[in-house]
Amino acid sequence: MSFEIRPLPGVIGAEVLGFDIGRDGADEAARLRLREAWTDRVVLVFREMATDEAGFMRLAGLFGENVPQPVQRPEYRVEGFPLIRLLSNRHRDTLGDNKPLNVGGTWHTDHSHLPDPPRGTVLRAIRLPEAGGDTSFTNQRAAYEALDEAVRREVDPLVGHHVYNSRYAPRRMATMTPDEEREAPSARHPLVRPHPASGRKALYFNPIRIERFDGMDAAASQALMDRLVAHCEQDRFVYRHRWRPGDVLIWDNAQALHMVRHDYDPAQERIMHRTLVG
Ligand code: OGA
Ligand code: MN
Repeated sequence: MSFEIRPLPGVIGAEVLGFDIGRDGADEAARLRLREAWTDRVVLVFREMATDEAGFMRLAGLFGENVPQPVQRPEYRVEGFPLIRLLSNRHRDTLGDNKPLNVGGTWHTDHSHLPDPPRGTVLRAIRLPEAGGDTSFTNQRAAYEALDEAVRREVDPLVGHHVYNSRYAPRRMATMTPDEEREAPSARHPLVRPHPASGRKALYFNPIRIERFDGMDAAASQALMDRLVAHCEQDRFVYRHRWRPGDVLIWDNAQALHMVRHDYDPAQERIMHRTLVG
């Protein structure tokens, strides 16, 4: 084999070493190996990727259909690549209070207010702070499987109501234009979902987007999510990624929560390219 997939310790994460999109990208067997490892390990870390925007898009496309970013602003654009969003710690909520955007700074899964959320989010490190800015991920399948049977019985039938910006979110989302707000979809998703690729059940909830579970009031819904977060964020279910130059990372929104720590020197830049796959 021309490249290696090396599982990280524990239940989540694998490194992909020596992958070359030009050489390996058209190899169907390679693609199947990658997709199987992704479903199993939830997060794949491609190291030392000497690639450009076109290669990044091709790599993402191995995992599913490329899909648009739900929110785009002029400052997020990458010339010639409409499906890439530039993430920068310098961006501010220009339609709102103009404060820095705390993108990804608390546990969440991406775009769960959509009826069909993108399964994969792919990030490519462009500029990194000298220290800090790690991104953590949970394995929501392993977390579900480790629940007591009584808790499983409690959560199995629940359905979450997801909106763009829950009034109970621990942080605010970027302010929407009136048009965006009018068109912003909301969605109901079961709290326990069979995974689209493996059929194995995983916990699917989102503290920034769920206002309540059907049939429960908001306080009880938020209390349940707090309990579930405390369970899922235990070290045994978590991979904490320390970014290195050349890293490209893909995670599986159907079976992970993620969170970045904006704990680095704000005078330094942290810039990523981000794309989504369906
Ligand atoms: C995201 C996100 C985390 C990071 O792009 O959805 O949460 O590490 N990013 O920048
Ligand atoms: Mn995110």
